[in-house]
Amino acid sequence: MYLPNDGEINPTPLIKLCWKLGKRVYLPVLHPILHNRLWFVPYTPHTVMIKNIYGIREPKLILANRRAAWALDLVLLPLVAFDALGNRMGMGGGYYDRTFSFKSLRRGMTGPNLIGLAHEIQRVEKLPIESWDIPLTSIVTDSKSYP
Ligand SMILES: Nc1ncnc2c1ncn2[C@@H]1O[C@H](COP(=O)(O)OP(=O)(O)OP(=O)(O)O)[C@@H](O)[C@H]1O
Ligand SMILES: [Mg+2]
Repeated sequence: MYLPNDGEINPTPLIKLCWKLGKRVYLPVLHPILHNRLWFVPYTPHTVMIKNIYGIREPKLILANRRAAWALDLVLLPLVAFDALGNRMGMGGGYYDRTFSFKSLRRGMTGPNLIGLAHEIQRVEKLPIESWDIPLTSIVTDSKSYP
């Protein structure tokens, strides 16, 4: 999951529901070494939070707690724009593209499903895609889901 920034759709109610259901929730943290990559660490009501270089709240990194991107069951991620084919435009850092690049590189390693959460008005007719862009499995908005 993620904590909302700059008008992104707010998944906090879903996070609270997951906690209630006994599911383990992880948030992305900026990778301390590798350029523009994400690590995922557990998020509970007791997690100590810090602000990262973008001013976004993230859990204080405890190395032993981190979970590799490929080991997650499901990823709900924010976006700036999407199209009905599952193409995603982010904030332009390539964080999610780099972190989940194994989905297109390693044969047989499909990794977790990536579900984009968005406002319906973030849909565009067709997004230009680049070779490194990792498509979403589906997108859920306030009124529809795609595909
Ligand atoms: N797997 C990768 N390896 C190296 N560079 C990459 C990779 N994926 C993306 N990039 C680089 O990251 C930059 C930003 O990518 P892009 O514009 O697609 O960001 P984005 O998808 O909007 O961002 P984000 O994933 O953080 O939401 C591009 O210049 C691209 O070259
Ligand atoms: Mg991209």
